[in-house]
Amino acid sequence: MGKWNEPIDLGTFNCRNRVIRSATHSFLGSVDGHMTEAEYAMYDQLAASDIGLIITGHCCVSPQGRANEEQINVFDDTCIEDLRQAAATVQAHDSRFVVQLSHAGPRAIDVDEYCDVVARPLKKHHSARALTAAEIQQIERDFIAAARRAQAAGVDGVQLHAAHSYLLSRFLDPFFNQREDAYGGDAAGRFHIVAEIVQGIHAACGPEFPVLVKINSDTKADDAAYEADLLYMLHECQRLGVTLVELSGVDFINQPHGASLYYLERAARLRREAGIPLSLVGGVRTLADIEKVLAAGLDMVSLGRPLVCEPDLLLRLQHGQPKSNCISCNRCFVIAHLHPGMRCIRQRQLRRAEK
Ligand SMILES: Cc1cc2nc3c(=O)[nH]c(=O)nc-3n(C[C@H](O)[C@H](O)[C@H](O)COP(=O)(O)O)c2cc1C
Repeated sequence: MGKWNEPIDLGTFNCRNRVIRSATHSFLGSVDGHMTEAEYAMYDQLAASDIGLIITGHCCVSPQGRANEEQINVFDDTCIEDLRQAAATVQAHDSRFVVQLSHAGPRAIDVDEYCDVVARPLKKHHSARALTAAEIQQIERDFIAAARRAQAAGVDGVQLHAAHSYLLSRFLDPFFNQREDAYGGDAAGRFHIVAEIVQGIHAACGPEFPVLVKINSDTKADDAAYEADLLYMLHECQRLGVTLVELSGVDFINQPHGASLYYLERAARLRREAGIPLSLVGGVRTLADIEKVLAAGLDMVSLGRPLVCEPDLLLRLQHGQPKSNCISCNRCFVIAHLHPGMRCIRQRQLRRAEK
């Protein structure tokens, strides 16, 4: 048995092992933003296949922050029964269930007017205007209200999606955030919105309610300077009582097929200097990869695309399959729109080969 299968106790949060299904939009929600039987079945299979912590795909905290047609809404109380059923499904396997909260910012689909951290031109001759401070504070309240709903549903915590160019990550990243008010200017200003949301959630849900944060461990701006920002953010997360920070990156989609653990070097360095529990996501494909991340000092390990390809991957690896069959082709971003219900092109080929 590897270290991956050892329980972990993070104070207000414990888990039967160290493996996380990183937040992954499933394309299985209904067009009115509710979970479906297919979504519950997916969570059941993941939890039954030894995944200790399952984080939902990004759920939108406000109608102006919707990123996808079939995204799960958490901006009104009708989500509570869905989240309750999903949480109970996962918890029945003694796994943990965390809801990822997100706002799409200028990537929102249902808006007449695009908004971003600062005004900027967008693709297809569109442009975004800068959010006002009052609008930012409303978005903070939306995140906090969504966390309250998740708590009412009995989930094990929430994760703020502050990675991959969605709205919160654009505040954190100096490449996007050139604001000069309280929400920009320096690392503290850029982190201000996340800090206020974490504090607000703890005030509304109690300081014991687990709040996780997913951030990028790199930037397209001055990446060396960004490492100081990262350390600042991790120290702040620890001070604010964040349970765990999951480190991702801006360019996971563009990594060469077969590349592994591309964010590990920096993550290991950050882990040595910051006290807060960390997980790493990106290019974890084998049990050896998982153990390497843990040996580098990370507390947990997260997987995204490999669990789209094979939700039972962890069982397969334990039974001798050498590595994930995922080749990081990224077709899981589009396949569901071409073939509803299908999540991975490789999955069908593999099922045929296994027959
Ligand atoms: C189809 C798809 C949907 C995703 N949806 C989300 C999401 O909702 N929230 C999020 O934080 N990351 C999302 N991601 C990113 C993954 O969580 C993960 O960070 C990324 O795929 C890199 O990890 P991997 O190499 O294990 O796939 C998504 C990735 C894919 C391929």
